[in-house]
Amino acid sequence: MADGPILVIAGGAGFIGANFARYVAAARPEWRLRVLDKLTYAGDRARLAGVDAEFIAGDIADPEAAASVLAGARWLVNFAAETHVDRSLQDAQAFLRTNVTGTFVLMSAAGDAGVERIVHVSTDEVYGESHGQAFREDDLLRPRSPYSASKAGGDLQVLALHATYGLPVCITRGANTIGGWQHPEKAVPLFTINALLDKPLPVYGRGEQRRDRLHVDDHSRAVLSVLERGEVGTVYNVAAGNNRDNLTVVRAILERLDRPESLIRFVEDRPGHDWDYIMDASRLAGLGWQPEHDFESALNLTVDWYVEHRDWWEPIVSGEFRRYYDRQYGQRLATSEAYRP
Ligand code: NAD
Ligand code: DAU
Repeated sequence: MADGPILVIAGGAGFIGANFARYVAAARPEWRLRVLDKLTYAGDRARLAGVDAEFIAGDIADPEAAASVLAGARWLVNFAAETHVDRSLQDAQAFLRTNVTGTFVLMSAAGDAGVERIVHVSTDEVYGESHGQAFREDDLLRPRSPYSASKAGGDLQVLALHATYGLPVCITRGANTIGGWQHPEKAVPLFTINALLDKPLPVYGRGEQRRDRLHVDDHSRAVLSVLERGEVGTVYNVAAGNNRDNLTVVRAILERLDRPESLIRFVEDRPGHDWDYIMDASRLAGLGWQPEHDFESALNLTVDWYVEHRDWWEPIVSGEFRRYYDRQYGQRLATSEAYRP
């Protein structure tokens, strides 16, 4: 274990948090990493295999757990959150508790512990739909789902703690992130896994909504840049400019896997489905960050990772996840339409 200054990574057993831990362990080997994670259905310590980090199981909304994990820490990055939009449409309670209350509790504890620098990881979804117009960091927040509204609530608490008590915090607002270790509930893993299993790919609506596909390594580099060089009290958009509609993404996955487009099914849309989120990331570029992965690179690396890591995702998709899958897709697939090019 390294013996340098301590970085606490909350939510570090999740998709982006664990990739970030792995990235920092290699890039800053002298730092000591301490992960706090509640291990919800989305958390998995397997993502941290081989990463030199202390692991503490706990809840960011628990003041004692937060205070104890932050003792002696120099830095904090908070990834901990409930993250799946569709689940927030089924039940939003956990989203409010973790993303709003939990964020406030963790940030307050970091202030009390004298943490020198904090990054709170947020999302492009807090701005609402952009309809082709790129969001800047000072634009109004118009979130439209229970998930994005809870993330906006967290952002506002963080900024309030900065304004009121001088909490030394920055916020990053990342685009739709893809890469290895993402939970199979999210679109790119779900489409990839279903294609590998010769199961239908459930595309909401007509697949016209657009997302900016940011590779997780670019996201990790952005968060580290903001931790080291960001100006406190400032928000940074993290965008790759890889905006594609969902149908294009699904077709690219099938092509990569050499599977037929007859697997594509158009299903009942997500209620309130946001059309697009386009962001201007020039403020972050001012810190020297640029994305390294274009759309093809980000997507192909991700698809290939799932091809090579069946041992990780097979137990997940055959376990409790099946109940969620049937609830979310059973009726949708029963009333779906085939895609006709
Ligand atoms: P994830 O769902 O894969 O991981 C979230 C992690 O947080 C899990 O390990 C979970 O166990 C943990 N967690 C949940 N509630 C907790 C609590 N109360 N206390 C402690 N730990 C808790 O999510 P992700 O995709 O890695 O997202 C990480 C962060 O990045 C989130 O804040 C999310 O809003 C944000 N974000 C995600 C994306 C994306 O496309 N995935 C894009 C932009 C921003
Ligand atoms: O943009 C950042 C956000 O990206 C993060 O804040 C969220 O935590 C993360 O989950 C992600 O949200 P999205 O709603 O964009 O991701 P999801 O993978 O759920 O869906 C991506 C797109 O694919 C979206 O337009 C909905 C669509 N979709 C999704 C699923 C799960 C489908 O068409 N079918 C599906 O089965």
